[in-house]
Amino acid sequence: MSEVEQTLSIIKPDAVERNLDQQIKSIFVKNGFKIIKEKKIKLEKNEAEQFYKVHQTKPFYNDLCEYLSSGPILVMVLEKKDAVLANRNLMGATDPKKAEEGTIRKSFGISIDKNSVHGSDSAENAKIEIEFFFKN
Ligand code: CMP
Repeated sequence: MSEVEQTLSIIKPDAVERNLDQQIKSIFVKNGFKIIKEKKIKLEKNEAEQFYKVHQTKPFYNDLCEYLSSGPILVMVLEKKDAVLANRNLMGATDPKKAEEGTIRKSFGISIDKNSVHGSDSAENAKIEIEFFFKN
């Protein structure tokens, strides 16, 4: 049975830099997500390394962490029925070139690195990622 759940969404530096954050937020709202919490922050590189530590063995890990800490990001807790999957569908494939028409990454992503948004990939990771940014 599907149930209301929360997921973590990040509007990445490439999108914040292009002032796309309000437009992307409105896409989430139009698609039935509630924005429960949000904050605009800039991470230090060591914080990005901690956030993306599941990718630490990947060849792209260093560039990924450099990039996520390169400018302000907007971090949000989104809530909806089956929010994790719904957000992944709305974001589209990791590589914007492979993302379907109408998805956020297809509409705004520049490259696999500058793909405009991050979303939790499972309910379990959503809890960990929400805790990472919104402790207490
Ligand atoms: P995100 O959903 O934030 O999770 C990890 C990020 O690594 C991913 O989006 C991409 O922006 C980035 N990345 C860079 N290269 C790759 C790759 N080859 N495969 C998957 N993700 C990649």
